[in-house]
Formats: sequence, structure tokens, C-alpha cells
Amino acid sequence: MKKMFTTVMILMLIAAVGVLQVVTEQNAFAASGKSLYNKSCKSCHGAKGGGAGGPDIREESFNSFKKAVKNGKEGMPAFKSLSSSSIKKIWKYVHI
Ligand code: HEC
Repeated sequence: MKKMFTTVMILMLIAAVGVLQVVTEQNAFAASGKSLYNKSCKSCHGAKGGGAGGPDIREESFNSFKKAVKNGKEGMPAFKSLSSSSIKKIWKYVHI
């Protein structure tokens, strides 16, 4: 009986560590999107994409978001050096 209790406790511990790891990775993903956003986009699109000089970009689909960032738009410069995964991070950040 005692052995079973120990086994259950160990399994629960392993599960808890797994959950913690996933949460930490998600936070790191959003955090790098945040710093990219603050560096390149915030001046025109405001805090968290809510709009300032540029429009509100929180509802944009990923495809048109990526297109706008890669190609630029009227009044918005193109960010050719941003990789697709960086753009995805920024997109996730403004969609949270
Ligand atoms: C110099 C100011 C400026 C910066 C910096 C800027 N934008 Fe923009 N952005 C604009 C303006 C102005 C528009 C509207 C252009 C239009 O409608 O023709 C726009 C449009 C967009 C759109 C399309 C929205 C729509 O409804 O058509 C997206 C998506 C977007 N920006 C994302 C970004 C992201 C992500 C960054 C940072 C990598 C960024 N922008 C940086 C000014 C800027």
C-alpha cells in the first residue's frame, strides 16, 4: 500500500513539472513577441496593438498581418528582416 502511494506521488510530481514547463515556454514565447513589438511597432500601433497613429491590429488574421509586416503598407514601412517566426511571435503577443 505504501509503495503504491509513493508511486502515485512520483507520477503526480512528474505531471506537475511537465505542466510548469509548458507554461514557462509559452510565457517565453509571448515575452519575446512583446519585446519585438515594443521595439518595432509600438510607436505607431500603441500598447498591445490597440492603435495609435496606425490602426488597431489585434483582429488581423495571421496571413494579412504577415503580409503587412513583410511588404509594408501606405504609411507603414516594410520589415523585411523580420522572420516568419518573429512575426508569429508578435502576432501572438497582440492577440493574447
Ligand atoms: C511608422 C509607423 C508604423 C510602424 C513602425 C508600424 N506600422 Fe503597421 N501600420 C502603420 C499604418 C499607418 C498602417 C495603415 C496602413 C494602411 O492602411 O494603408 C499600418 C498597418 C498595419 C497592419 C494592417 C492593418 C490593416 O487593417 O490593414 C498590420 C497588420 C500592421 N500594421 C502591423 C505592424 C507590425 C506588426 C509592426 C511592427 C513590426 C508595425 N505594423 C509597425 C504604421 C506603422
